Amino acid sequence: MSDLPPPVLVTRRLAPGVIERLTDHHPATLHDSDQAMGRAELLAAVPGRRAVVTTLDDRVDAEFLDAAGPDLAIVANHAVGFHNIDLAACAARGVHVSNTPGVLTTATADMAWALLLAATRRLGEGERLLRSGRPWTWAPNFLLGMELAGTQLGVLGMGRIGQAVARRARAFDMPVAYHNRRELPPGEAEGADWKPLEELLATSTVLVVTCPLSEATRHLLDARRLALLPPGAVVVAMTAGVVDEEALAAALESGALFAAAVDNFEHEPAVPSALLAQERAVLAPHLGSATVRTRQAMGGLAVDNVLAVLGGGEPVTPVKA
Ligand code: GLV
Repeated sequence: MSDLPPPVLVTRRLAPGVIERLTDHHPATLHDSDQAMGRAELLAAVPGRRAVVTTLDDRVDAEFLDAAGPDLAIVANHAVGFHNIDLAACAARGVHVSNTPGVLTTATADMAWALLLAATRRLGEGERLLRSGRPWTWAPNFLLGMELAGTQLGVLGMGRIGQAVARRARAFDMPVAYHNRRELPPGEAEGADWKPLEELLATSTVLVVTCPLSEATRHLLDARRLALLPPGAVVVAMTAGVVDEEALAAALESGALFAAAVDNFEHEPAVPSALLAQERAVLAPHLGSATVRTRQAMGGLAVDNVLAVLGGGEPVTPVKA
């Protein structure tokens, strides 16, 4: 009898129906929990696996790969992001890496708009007020927000999600500008103008941050760059780590920003106390892709990547080093 473990490890409970799509083809060990595996537990579970379905909470580095051993063929990340994965270390060992692009675009762009509207119309403050039981009354100057029509929306990171955010701006009569490493062909830019980063910041009263986190983008929006935004601007951060959270809190505290919204945090599940102290910060617990349909599609795509590689092929949605 072989003492090899089932070939696939899935590090988190998946959306309904997804695990069966995998286990119909390959035996798997499922960490059937909504909590991430502890590091020691993860390292103890990977030896001998051929595929691991990971989430952003699972660090895939040389230590993980050494623990997994030479049979590991693919790390299928259940996320569009992959900053938890050392791509060079995977490439050096011939381990494929995949992510889940495309399927979460709509849900995440919708969430960016939910946060944008909540921040500009002060919904968090209003809700907290009602739930506090404190007296309130309608008044001409009560909880006044910011109007969107005619205001420039800046999109930092014009990938699929940024483009979908820009497309939705038409319904709000907002002109859109964007910054991206490369200028997009006009057909993909949703009518938005490319601008150098500093010019985008200086002209965008509402800024949505959708660029992926990488070493190049970590804290790209630091105190100096946040200070370039027009007075009373609103920042919506959809990617963890790109906006310096302490600098964002300070810009809210000083009144330089009108409001902000954050969906992903750099050191989740920790949320900086400086941000929690800001009434004008709308804070969401990483809900960008959190719909049943999208989570089923993300899980399905992660599984499809595993099936493709264990079937001897290439990943469907590879991430290259
Ligand atoms: C973020 O939640 C991602 O999917 O990368």
